[in-house]
Amino acid sequence: MQLNTLLSVIGGVLAVSTPSSATIIAPKGDTGLTPAQHSILQKRFDSYYASNNANANKVRGITLGGWLVTEPYITPTLYNYATQLMANSTHNTKRYNVFNSSIIDEYTMCQALGYETAENILAQHYDGWINETDFQQIAEDGFNLVRIPVGYWAWKQNHSTNAYPEGITFKDPYVGEGLQLRYLNKAIAWAEKYGLNVWLDLHGAPGSQNGFDNSGQRNFYDDLDWLRDGTGTWNLTLAIWRSMFDEYLNSSSAIVGVEVMNEPLSTKIDIWDITQAYYDAWRLFSARENRTANTTFVIHDAFEGTGHWNLEFNPKYTNVSAPHGVGFNSSSYPLRDSHQVLVDHHHYEVFTDWQLANTQYGRLMDIVNFGDSIAEQELQYHPAVVGEWSGAITDCAHWLNGVGVGARYDGSYYKTTEYTTDDKPVGTCYSQNPISQWNDTYKRDVRQFIEAQLATYTAQTTGWIFWNWKTETAYEWDYTQLKKAGLFPVPLDNYTYFGSDGKMLADVSASLSSEAYPYTSTKGSSSGSGTNTKTKTKSTKSHNGAAGIVRRGSTAGLDANAPFYSQTLSFVTVALLGGLIAAQLL
Ligand SMILES: *[C@@H]1O[C@H](CO)[C@@H](O)[C@H](O)[C@H]1NC(C)=O
Ligand SMILES: *[C@@H]1O[C@H](CO)[C@@H](O)[C@H](O)[C@H]1NC(C)=O
Ligand SMILES: *[C@@H]1O[C@H](CO)[C@@H](O)[C@H](O)[C@H]1NC(C)=O
Ligand SMILES: *[C@@H]1O[C@H](CO)[C@@H](O)[C@H](O)[C@H]1NC(C)=O
Ligand SMILES: *[C@@H]1O[C@H](CO)[C@@H](O)[C@H](O)[C@H]1NC(C)=O
Ligand SMILES: *[C@@H]1O[C@H](CO)[C@@H](O)[C@H](O)[C@H]1NC(C)=O
Ligand SMILES: *[C@@H]1O[C@H](CO)[C@@H](O)[C@H](O)[C@H]1NC(C)=O
Ligand SMILES: *[C@@H]1O[C@H](CO)[C@@H](O)[C@H](O)[C@H]1NC(C)=O
Ligand SMILES: *[C@@H]1O[C@H](CO)[C@@H](O)[C@H](O)[C@H]1NC(C)=O
Ligand SMILES: *[C@@H]1O[C@H](CO)[C@@H](O)[C@H](O)[C@H]1NC(C)=O
Ligand SMILES: *[C@@H]1O[C@H](CO)[C@@H](O)[C@H](O)[C@H]1NC(C)=O
Ligand SMILES: *[C@@H]1O[C@H](CO)[C@@H](O)[C@H](O)[C@H]1NC(C)=O
Repeated sequence: MQLNTLLSVIGGVLAVSTPSSATIIAPKGDTGLTPAQHSILQKRFDSYYASNNANANKVRGITLGGWLVTEPYITPTLYNYATQLMANSTHNTKRYNVFNSSIIDEYTMCQALGYETAENILAQHYDGWINETDFQQIAEDGFNLVRIPVGYWAWKQNHSTNAYPEGITFKDPYVGEGLQLRYLNKAIAWAEKYGLNVWLDLHGAPGSQNGFDNSGQRNFYDDLDWLRDGTGTWNLTLAIWRSMFDEYLNSSSAIVGVEVMNEPLSTKIDIWDITQAYYDAWRLFSARENRTANTTFVIHDAFEGTGHWNLEFNPKYTNVSAPHGVGFNSSSYPLRDSHQVLVDHHHYEVFTDWQLANTQYGRLMDIVNFGDSIAEQELQYHPAVVGEWSGAITDCAHWLNGVGVGARYDGSYYKTTEYTTDDKPVGTCYSQNPISQWNDTYKRDVRQFIEAQLATYTAQTTGWIFWNWKTETAYEWDYTQLKKAGLFPVPLDNYTYFGSDGKMLADVSASLSSEAYPYTSTKGSSSGSGTNTKTKTKSTKSHNGAAGIVRRGSTAGLDANAPFYSQTLSFVTVALLGGLIAAQLL
């Protein structure tokens, strides 16, 4: 048991380790890219991050989540207000309470309130939640990119006729009629003013692309309508893409990327439909892009493993999706190079029981191995960012999993949903309390976790985008409050637990090793951490239940990570680690 544990841990460490001195364990390579790849891969970023510094053209981003697409856990006040308003005006406090959850997402909020009231409340929210000062602060803090989620309903033209672009009629309760686009346009102007780059992110699709409340429409248990025959959602999506590209591709030099769909969930929507839709989007995009501007076409990985998209959007492999009818013809939809298409991965460690049960060691190794898998398996095909990640090591933030839904961490999730588990709760929820009430151990773990992600993703990927700029009370997800509490490096590379170059400091390695080998205990926690060294790319941001779908064991393709560990072994590193681990064990 000890030997197996030891080997798997060594494998995990070595995957990113080449020793640079006796006291430092360094991430492998400098950036994970060859100089040639570097200049091609970065596409637009080359010209925007004007410096010869290797880190200068990495994405260092932040998302303005919960603004133009609202999310209950980011602004519970807005949702409580709407619920109270309905309870008062209908005198029905049974229907409108957070347990019976009549208002659980933006869709049901608009439905309950009616168009005018919803419009009124949302306009106040758009005004109050983000303003120019936020952009100024984001730039001052050293970020170079802002990701802005927006829902398809921003393109609704008339709510009384349900008119969408191109004469399409689609009935939904959302507020639109240009309201969000006015704020989006302000945001783009602020980004220009403060020298920030912008990624537009289509975060909500008609019919919902994942059933998460952050798509606008929470749908835990039923089929989703996005791309489903007879629903009109595919046609509407194409019309939305055309409008979005027409309006924004040449509108501002600040816009460096367009993410055509956030988190389509391939366990619920056929992956070939998603792939087809991505190619459709590319066709529309490439017909409208400014070839000289190199705007990045961004696809989310659809919760497929690292490397899944390598041969798609790759002119050398136009045959791979042909059997499914989605193969694209590079002479009719010109793709000069597979590096024009960037893959966006989202990585969280809190939406499955097994991740929540992780030790700090196992958690950091997950990050390091995940970063490594991107560098090793993907970057030669497509640039790739970790476009969502957070400081969360529990899922305890209020409503994180949905209005009225509890946490997996303390087991309340399984009492408030139809999902079941065989695992015991990990503990009592704690991190929903203000950071000032956290103990030093918890604070250390959160900061270390954040630094590990910053260091790893900076070194091993095209860059990263933290989720989220701010929240009301979801502290582990809130850059602004984490920073205030000293749990986020300021400046962004001012690490405590890592070298300024991202190298892991020896005392961290040592403390993690001792955590991995609590040799005084025989209760098996060490084997737990040992088995957690594999990359868990399926850690979906299921703010509302994808972990019920994405279970342990459904991580197809992850085992493909195993072979490359051995390729990176070096005698020096083995010797170094051997000494370190021996010291811990003796
Ligand atoms: C609902 O009614 C209560 C009690 O009258 C009042 O305190 C509260 O402000 C009302 N809330 C809203 C949103 O109108
Ligand atoms: C939910 O609504 C039902 C009636 O529809 C009511 O009997 C029940 O008490 C409500 N539950 C809660 C927790 O408010
Ligand atoms: C933005 O809002 C904050 C309060 O949320 C306020 O302090 C600041 O002055 C506002 N900035 C601008 C430019 O209006
Ligand atoms: C929506 O359509 C109705 C009916 O044709 C029209 O009266 C109204 O002015 C339109 N509203 C907008 C915002 O265009
Ligand atoms: C979608 O568009 C196609 C082509 O324009 C049309 O033939 C089809 O009927 C439309 N489907 C729906 C559901 O509107
Ligand atoms: C953007 O500009 C390019 C280059 O001038 C042009 O080819 C393209 O059609 C324009 N796209 C849109 C949507 O206007
Ligand atoms: C296309 O991009 C180039 C380079 O960024 C820019 O100079 C030019 O104005 C753009 N053209 C249009 C039509 O936006
Ligand atoms: C677009 O990419 C090409 C090829 O990499 C590069 O030569 C050009 O400078 C880039 N244009 C901009 C505006 O970054
Ligand atoms: C697609 O083409 C590549 C290279 O041309 C080839 O190696 C591969 O076997 C082909 N795949 C299929 C499914 O035909
Ligand atoms: C690809 O498109 C071009 C131009 O439309 C056409 O000439 C060619 O035959 C197509 N190739 C395939 C394999 O469909
Ligand atoms: C700190 O808080 C966490 C979470 O409640 C708890 O598990 C841990 O035992 C506490 N540590 C100390 C040293 O108090
Ligand atoms: C780095 O952070 C430490 C606190 O963790 C702070 O004292 C120091 O001033 C920071 N360095 C810079 C250059 O801001």
